[in-house]
Amino acid sequence: MERIESSIWPDDPSYKSRKELNLAVLKEWQELMAKVMKGGPIEAVKRHHERGKLTARERIELLCDEGTGFLEFSALAANGQYAEAFPSAGIITGIALIQGREAVVIANDATVKGGTYISETIRKHVRALEIALENNLPCVYMVDSGGVFLPEQSKVFPDKDHFGRIFYYQARLSAVGIPQVAIVMGSCTAGGAYIPAMADETIIVKNQGTIFIAGPPLVKAATGEEVTAEELGGAEVHTKISGVADHLVENDHEAIGKCREIFLSFAPAYRQPLAYNDPVEPYYSPRELDYIMPEDLSTHFDSREVIARIVDGSKLNEFKKEYAPTLVTGFAHIMGIPVGIIANNGVLYPETSLKGAHFVELCAQRKVPIIFLQNVTGFMVGKDFEHKGIARDGAKMVHAVANANVPMITLIFGSSNGAGNYAMAGRAFGPRFLWMWPNARISVMGGAQASQVLSTVKQDKNEENLIERYERESKALFATSRVWDDGIIQPSESRFVLARALSATLNKPIPEPQFGVFRM
Ligand code: COA
Repeated sequence: MERIESSIWPDDPSYKSRKELNLAVLKEWQELMAKVMKGGPIEAVKRHHERGKLTARERIELLCDEGTGFLEFSALAANGQYAEAFPSAGIITGIALIQGREAVVIANDATVKGGTYISETIRKHVRALEIALENNLPCVYMVDSGGVFLPEQSKVFPDKDHFGRIFYYQARLSAVGIPQVAIVMGSCTAGGAYIPAMADETIIVKNQGTIFIAGPPLVKAATGEEVTAEELGGAEVHTKISGVADHLVENDHEAIGKCREIFLSFAPAYRQPLAYNDPVEPYYSPRELDYIMPEDLSTHFDSREVIARIVDGSKLNEFKKEYAPTLVTGFAHIMGIPVGIIANNGVLYPETSLKGAHFVELCAQRKVPIIFLQNVTGFMVGKDFEHKGIARDGAKMVHAVANANVPMITLIFGSSNGAGNYAMAGRAFGPRFLWMWPNARISVMGGAQASQVLSTVKQDKNEENLIERYERESKALFATSRVWDDGIIQPSESRFVLARALSATLNKPIPEPQFGVFRM
C-alpha cells in the first residue's frame, strides 16, 4: 500500500503564522477544558468532599481499568451560556474500559447546582444512551442529582428528547440485552428515581444515597406526612424494605468496586470480524496536526496531510485517485482497524458525488467502517452545474450515506457548510460519533456569503452585524456548547480518539447494506 507523501514541512518559517494562530485557538480550548475539569464552585467541591463523597470525575477514574483513560463526550456543553454556572452541563458522559469491556458511563456532578438537569444536561444524557444503544455498550449510571433544574422546566420536561427519553431508552436498552448498572451515590429524586429502578442491578451508598419519587418537603405539602430523607428512601430502606436497590455499600470506593465486580458476570462482548492488522504508528507525527491547518479555511488544503497523520504507517490505498480530485477516498487502518476514508479536498461537483456514493457502496458491501473528514464549503453552484444535474448527483451521495448501515464516524477538521455537511455525514445522518477540531466551523454558509445573499433578497443594510453573528455562531465552541457534536478534540489526539470510537462501534454486528432508489 502506498505511503502518502506529505508536502508540508511544519518547521518551515513560512508556516510560522499559521502555527501561532492554531496554537492560540488550541490554548483557548485547553484553558476552558482545564476550568470545567474542576467541576462546580470551589466551596461546593469542598462541601462534597467533606461529606465523604468523591467528585464525578474522581469516581469515573476509579471505575476505569487503570491507565486506560476515559473518552469523554461534550465536556464543554453549556459553555458560554448560563453565566458559566453549569460546567460540562453538570454531567460527565463518555466511554470507559471496565474489566476490559467498553461501556458508557453517565455520572451526575452534584457540585454543579446539585447535579440538576438543564437542556444540555439532558442532551448529553440522552445522547450517551443513544450511543450505548447504537453500539451495544453496557451502561453505568452514577446517580447524584436533584432532578430537573426547576426554573428551566419548560425546556427539559415535556418534549420527545427531554427528561422522559432517558427512561424510554433504559427500557429499550434492556430489551436488546444491554446490561445497565446504577450506583446511587447521592440524591435520586422525582423522575430521577426511575434511573436505578429501571437498571438491571442497583448499588446504593449508606447514609448518602436516597431514592424517592418525591422528597420530604413535597411529601409534607402533599399529604402532611413528616419524614426524613433517610426514612423515606435511604439505602437501608431500599435494600432491606422496598427492594428497589440490590447492594448496600459503605462508601463510594466500595460502590465502584461492587460495580466492577458486577461487570465480571456479563456475557462476553461481540466483536465484528474484520481484516484487522497489527497497529503501526503513522510515518508522519500526529503532533503536527495541532498546527498545520491554514489560517483561512477557504485556502486550499490537501486533506491527505491529515490522513497521513492519523492512519497506520501513513498508508492509504486510494480509490479513483485521478478522478474527481476534490474528494479523497481510500482504504487504510487506524490502530489496526480497517476503515474507508472519505475526505474533502475542495468543493463537491457532480462527479465528486458519484465517486463518494460509489465508495460508500464499497464500504457498505465490504462491511468496512467509514471515517468522514469534513472540510467542505458545499456543492458547486451555477448554471453549468444545475444543467449537469448536480442536485441529482449530490442526492446520490446523500442517499448512500444515509443508508450505508456501516459505522460512520465524522471528524470536522475545517469548515462544514451547506449540503456538504449532509453528504459528509453531518449530525442529521446519524454518524456513530461526531468530533470537531477547535478551529472547525459549522454553519449553513459563510458569513460573507450570507450577508451578500440577504442584501440581494432584502436590501438589508445591516451586513456587518450578520457577518459578526455568523462568525460567532459558526465556531466549534458555539456548536459544542449546544451538543451538536460529541466534543471538541485536540487535533493531535485524533488518531487515538478515532481508534477508541471505532473500537466501540464494533461491539455491534454490522448489518447487510440496503440502499433505496438512486435517481440516475
Ligand atoms: N432546581 C433548581 N435548583 C436546584 C434544584 C432544583 N431541582 N436542586 C438544587 N438546586 C440548586 C440550589 O438552589 C443550589 O443553588 P445555589 O448554589 O445557587 O445556591 C444548588 O442547586 C445546590 O443545592 P444545595 O441544596 O445547596 O446542595 P446540596 O448538595 O445540599 O443538596 C439536593 C442537593 C439536590 C439534594 C437538594 O438541593 C435538593 O433536594 N433539591 C431539590 C430536589 C427536588 O425536589 N427536585 C425535584 C425535581 S423534579
